[in-house]
Amino acid sequence: MPRKKEKPSIRSYFGDAAGDYSSKKWMARNQHQTTRRALQLLLDPKLGPPHVPLDDSVRVIDITCGSGFSSDILAENDLHFTGADLSLDMLGFAARKGYDVVQSDMRFLPFRDTAFAHGISISGLNFVTTSATSREEFVACYTAVAIEFARVIQEGGRYAVEFYPSDDKELKTALSAFKRGGFRGFLVVDHPGHKKEQKFLALEKESLETRT
Ligand SMILES: C[S@@+](CC[C@H](N)C(=O)[O-])C[C@H]1O[C@@H](n2cnc3c(N)ncnc32)[C@H](O)[C@@H]1O
Repeated sequence: MPRKKEKPSIRSYFGDAAGDYSSKKWMARNQHQTTRRALQLLLDPKLGPPHVPLDDSVRVIDITCGSGFSSDILAENDLHFTGADLSLDMLGFAARKGYDVVQSDMRFLPFRDTAFAHGISISGLNFVTTSATSREEFVACYTAVAIEFARVIQEGGRYAVEFYPSDDKELKTALSAFKRGGFRGFLVVDHPGHKKEQKFLALEKESLETRT
């Protein structure tokens, strides 16, 4: 996503604005590059050897898939995937590319437990707090997301999440929600201090045995 002076509002993904987003070649280029980086992080050696393969034997979830720029890279890597997003307007573009998509709020994913091996979420996580009106609600949004992200993947499965927290406090809130939700992992900051700065979380769902 571009580092604009103003953060995009969720309105940027509904109605005509969804078409504007989806038709921009530079946006496609940025999102493709970001997703390629996310796929690298899913296999980052700092997470250790993967317990669950990342290949065409498994299914991956692309949460906040939007019109499918991030999903393009899953397809490019011959991965089987399902895209999940709140906006039907965005999903329409992804569906027209032939992608499997399901309308969903990332806090209430309509999938069975452990339906997926791994997941990505590119440039969407921070929108989860859109409706929060207090600090408690803000924290509750990240807590709900972490619980759902954990529920729908297998133990040992991984997520690479790229997002735009407003400040360090939001970043810490997100990271600690994922840790409470059963993940281990770390933050990666690419191009720190530069206008191209991007923040990624590389996460692995711990097994119950490891957690207790
Ligand atoms: C910047 S777009 C990113 C789309 C895509 N990942 C890409 O690479 O182009 C952010 C997406 O997050 C979605 N989104 C926002 N809030 C959401 C929520 N609560 N649940 C699911 N998707 C949400 C929006 O509809 C939008 O499509």
